[in-house]
Amino acid sequence: MKRNLVFLGPPGSGKGTQAAMLARRLGIAHLSTGDMLRNAVSEESELGRQAESYMKRGELVPDHLIIGLIERTIVSGKLRHGFILDGFPRTLPQAESLGDMLSGKGVSLDGAVLFRISDEEVVNRLSGRWSCPKCQATYNYPSNVPRRQGICDHDGMTLRRRPDDEETVVRNRLDVYRSQTKPIEDYYRRESLLTEVRAEGTPEQVFQALLAEVGWVEAAS
Ligand code: AP5
Repeated sequence: MKRNLVFLGPPGSGKGTQAAMLARRLGIAHLSTGDMLRNAVSEESELGRQAESYMKRGELVPDHLIIGLIERTIVSGKLRHGFILDGFPRTLPQAESLGDMLSGKGVSLDGAVLFRISDEEVVNRLSGRWSCPKCQATYNYPSNVPRRQGICDHDGMTLRRRPDDEETVVRNRLDVYRSQTKPIEDYYRRESLLTEVRAEGTPEQVFQALLAEVGWVEAAS
């Protein structure tokens, strides 16, 4: 079974939703660079100050900042029981650095999962996304509503919309994906690591397709 994974796909393709479900099922780490950056912005750290303006515009944060962040996480040993990198790598230099960092630790990547979705479905989903500013849980109207309207199920915080989910910014994020991130699909295809999952359908349907791709076999009861 594959346990060291990267998740690729356009904004709103469900990487975060599926990564949380799979990490829980397999007992592996889920690392989202988007969540790490949003935490840095809300803590007003130096990284957050440097990243915020790029994120608001839907542009990528410079490679050296992100690569440094991942390098510190790999060194910390947090990923040793398996991992899903959600939203990293997003450029060829990031993909190449990841390869070097992992091989330096004697770890290999088992797969790169690409979530396929149309632009219109992305715009539609992101117009209905609400997130918890504290635990980063994500909800959606109408596909995944919290138990109490506008309130996080996990910690009772008031849910918020992400500033980069405004439609013009979403369209820019889609362009940025095509120009800067799509080339790494070919990079992983050449390494025979790329698998594809159709990201439309209910979250549970997508999850079943994902489990098949990672080679999950239900334990006999
Ligand atoms: P990041 O947070 O990674 O944003 P993203 O990749 O654009 O992805 P999203 O979080 O928007 O979507 P997702 O695919 O995780 O979908 P989700 O599961 O939430 O990055 C934000 C910014 O940080 C970037 O723009 C950049 O500035 C910076 N950044 C991050 N990493 C970087 C890097 N490596 N290099 C440089 N810069 C970086 O689902 C979306 C919605 O749809 C939710 O409401 C969800 O409930 C709903 N949903 C999910 N699945 C389904 C389904 N099957 N059916 C219906 N609704 C669904």
